[in-house]
Amino acid sequence: MNKDLFAHVTLSDEITQLRAQIHRLDHGYYVLDAPLASDADYDALMSRLRLLESQHPALITLDSPTQRVSGQAQNSFAPVVHLQAMRSLDNAFSDDDVRDFWQRIVGILPQAEPIFCAEPKLDGLAVSLTYENGIFVQAATRGDGVTGEDVTLNVRSIRNIPLKLMSDNPPERIEIRGEVVMPRAAFDALNARQRASGDKVFANPRNAAAGSLRQLDPQTTASRHLQFFAYAIGDIAPPNIPLSGTEFVYFASQWLLLQSLRQWGFSIAKEVRQLEGIAALLTYWQQLGEQRAQLAYDIDGVVYKLDKIAQQQQLGFTAKYPRWAIAHKFPAQEVWTKLLAIDIQVGRTGALTPVARLEPVAVGGVMVSNATLHNADEIARKDIHLGDTVVVRRAGDVIPEVVCVVEQLRPDAAVVFIMPDACPVCGSAVIQEADKSVHRCSGGLYCPAQKQRALEHFVSRKAMDISGLGGKVLEQLIDAKLVNHPDDLYRLTREQVLTCERMADKSATNLLNAIEKSKNTSLPRFIFALGIPEVGEVTAQSLARHFLTLDALMQASEQQLQQVNDVGVVVAMHVHQFFAQTHNQAVIAGLLAAGIHWSAMEVIQAATNSPFAGKTVVLTGTLSSMSRDEAKHLLTLAGAKVSGSVSAKTHLLIAGEAAGSKAEKASALGVEIWQESEFLAALETLHSSHTQE
Ligand code: IVH
Repeated sequence: MNKDLFAHVTLSDEITQLRAQIHRLDHGYYVLDAPLASDADYDALMSRLRLLESQHPALITLDSPTQRVSGQAQNSFAPVVHLQAMRSLDNAFSDDDVRDFWQRIVGILPQAEPIFCAEPKLDGLAVSLTYENGIFVQAATRGDGVTGEDVTLNVRSIRNIPLKLMSDNPPERIEIRGEVVMPRAAFDALNARQRASGDKVFANPRNAAAGSLRQLDPQTTASRHLQFFAYAIGDIAPPNIPLSGTEFVYFASQWLLLQSLRQWGFSIAKEVRQLEGIAALLTYWQQLGEQRAQLAYDIDGVVYKLDKIAQQQQLGFTAKYPRWAIAHKFPAQEVWTKLLAIDIQVGRTGALTPVARLEPVAVGGVMVSNATLHNADEIARKDIHLGDTVVVRRAGDVIPEVVCVVEQLRPDAAVVFIMPDACPVCGSAVIQEADKSVHRCSGGLYCPAQKQRALEHFVSRKAMDISGLGGKVLEQLIDAKLVNHPDDLYRLTREQVLTCERMADKSATNLLNAIEKSKNTSLPRFIFALGIPEVGEVTAQSLARHFLTLDALMQASEQQLQQVNDVGVVVAMHVHQFFAQTHNQAVIAGLLAAGIHWSAMEVIQAATNSPFAGKTVVLTGTLSSMSRDEAKHLLTLAGAKVSGSVSAKTHLLIAGEAAGSKAEKASALGVEIWQESEFLAALETLHSSHTQE
């Protein structure tokens, strides 16, 4: 034998084996959902095959796994005439419609109780795949049922479609019909990517699947993670295939056809069942309807197909539909209706949420008259005008949502929506943070919509620390209109407190004592208690230390606020806006009038019982809560002498992040070392011990 020829034979054998192996792994991974090899092993096989094919391009075949994404972008999609027309199904919208369908069939086939194959009605796009001698050669969309579009290159990239039928005895030519769907997880991921890149988001997985199939570049389709589920065949040649030992008779019944398709390597919807009796069909519909929200893909109903092919042939077709099958639809999850108005709801954190008021309409079997619009950006992105006809969707248990506008139905009088600049509940100014889509009411203390939450925060342990005022008690006081704003707490009488459920004499006394005791507080606590957006405990401390008095803080401009450690543009804006609201000013005045007081910051900082008094302290490393200068300033106020280097005279080293040689030296000299947290704790103790005196 010629040596070269011999080399060639083994090479082509290796290529064939590699392809067979990769096909088997693809089938395990994408069809059976059971990976048979590690990613690394799979990649190694693929690289080897790519290498061999690049060295011997003449050996590349159409069904090679390397040809899934061929990379050439197209200009358009050529028309394809289906060898057998792709029909659609008649619809049943009620149990009675299904009973009528059943009666018609039983009337024609009186001799037998018919068996049905029940399948989910996948909400995607019907396509027809042509295989010649077992090799995938063409894919076409349904089009008008007679002529579709050639989407071969795109469909080839769908990984759960076999490029070669797993059969030793495939028909010479066969059209395999099924649905291309985008699983919900892939849909969510795609929309997240689209949103991030500022591209158009898709209204639902069906539109996304359709858009992905009509991409001119197969690379894009490949990135969309589409799936194909087979449920029928079209033309087959020759029509009567002799059976091989292992294959099913794909003409005997729909059920066996599905098993054949599964054997050939296709994904079949897991939910298919063989059923007998109309009650079983209706139960199937009911159960699948309940599982609908949990399925990996969207379905819009179920399909009942008379199972025996011989019986199907007996019934035949009407002008449009098969008489032997029907689609039993679920109540629509997506409907069109009129947008009457956009109301604004103010949440407990002050966030303003626009809510669509809709002409009432049934969605997914439930009447819907409101739907969330999320925020102003979302309204702008969807270009929603007042007066528009909108698409409303309710997927599973999810709250109804306005998906998009039906632009062609926009009336001339439709107007653009504008977010109000005053809170619709309390009239305080509405602010929008830069880079954030949320609009917020700035009347934190005053706004009734935020009352309960603002009060819960106000009384919390790290704020005014009023124990005995848990959520339930507070709720009753609010409901009874005894407390509207925090200053009302300080006017509560014993009689009023006793009107609360389960409030005994003793607990009333405790509560009134706690309220009284809370009047003696500290400036940082008081600032924190106000519940200014973005102002937590640490920021409240920084603000107090910096401005020393409440007055100075209330008067500060945004620029002055930004001088404070840790206070950036956003925090400065919130603080400034908060104190600018006359409503908030009134509540603060009420609180001070009620007797809330604190020791002056300077007094605290000059504390004599300070752990720092008379100590030589060295700072090293980076502190996360304040600058080196500020730490030095505070230590000095607390009576320390701050030194730059460690020596035998050093009493204490405060070590921030990445403390280096100073920390080593201190530890060698046996100097006490504190982490930043211990330093902060000591500062906090200083404040509280002085406020309680
Ligand atoms: S059988 C002659 N089975 O529904 C019957 N169709 O209205 C051919 N569909 O165009 C269709 N799931 O896009 C069939 N399990 C299923 C289906 C299904 C979804 C779609 C398909 C078809 C439409 C018919």
